[in-house]
Amino acid sequence: MNRGFSKSFVRLWLLIIICGGLWGCSGKQEARIIRIGHNQSVNHPIHIALTAFQNYIHERLAGRYIVQVYPSELLGSQTDMVQLTQTGAIDFCVASNAILETFSKDYEIFNLPYLFASQEAYHHVMDDRQITDPIFGSTEKAGFIAVTWLDAGTRNFYTLDTPVEQPSDLKGMKIRVQQSPTNIEMMRLLGGSATPMGFGDVYTALQSGIIDGAENNEMALTDNGHGDVCKFYSYDMHQMVPDILIGNQVLMEEMPKEAREIFEEGFALVNQVERKEWVKAVEQAKERAVREQQVEFIYPEQRPFVEACRPLHERVLKGNPRLKPIYDAIQKYNEAYPSLEKACSESKLAEIE
Ligand code: GCU
Repeated sequence: MNRGFSKSFVRLWLLIIICGGLWGCSGKQEARIIRIGHNQSVNHPIHIALTAFQNYIHERLAGRYIVQVYPSELLGSQTDMVQLTQTGAIDFCVASNAILETFSKDYEIFNLPYLFASQEAYHHVMDDRQITDPIFGSTEKAGFIAVTWLDAGTRNFYTLDTPVEQPSDLKGMKIRVQQSPTNIEMMRLLGGSATPMGFGDVYTALQSGIIDGAENNEMALTDNGHGDVCKFYSYDMHQMVPDILIGNQVLMEEMPKEAREIFEEGFALVNQVERKEWVKAVEQAKERAVREQQVEFIYPEQRPFVEACRPLHERVLKGNPRLKPIYDAIQKYNEAYPSLEKACSESKLAEIE
């Protein structure tokens, strides 16, 4: 779709739903319309989890709140939606942690490549409120707060026709990254050429050869069709970047206490449902990518990728020393939940000893 046309279409659509919302407010019930936007399809774990939230709020706060969930960038790109959430034009949206670092530098921490030693370490860190609370609240002044996190798996490189087996294979390749300085720097360190753009533009950019590849979880292959054009998916596992459900600060602050408590329960439900659905969805995506799209999965040695990215950790901590205690707390989880590879070699070592 033509970009200018699609932007005007989004604006028109927004106007219609905002007016619709006001209409809803002026009725007898005075129910408050809660609009939530995200950029995934209706089959995606995020949409399934937000639908569970919608049902929960309707059941527990019947007549007081009406939740409307808008998928597939209907309310604009993630950056557009974050801005709409800031001003209160919409109430919530799901944004990748990657783009949130442009709203608060503290979010940089979870964008660091190879930050987590394992998926278990990642999940424990994201569930530790002492770690996440300072970051999730850091955008209060900017008009929004994070209310829960969502699993978005591991990010890996995938390309049109050249498999990525080592960082040097990325040389000369234009790779789409999310619009975040950390991601751009990561690509520079790995030797590729970073092409930042919104998620909704990636398919066309791949198809038309404007870019040679991208990086994302397995769902992007199937749910977003990237596997129709990209035939090599390399498990270098450079990032585990969570998605974040953010809410308008004023709405959250002014919500009556008992309603707020129910909303909080709803946020916990979103997290649980999404994580459960995620495991199933990734399995299905991998299977479909091989069977229907003929994508080849590659398992390169991770070490050269890890080493190339390492300087970024130091650079981010130097630029934002507030993150150091958080970074150290993450290392404790990394020690408790080391990578499978490391755990195996350690148990082998114990066997030998
Ligand atoms: C994942 C993530 C999205 C994000 C997208 C991207 O799909 O779940 O929130 O927008 O990556 O690469 O932009």
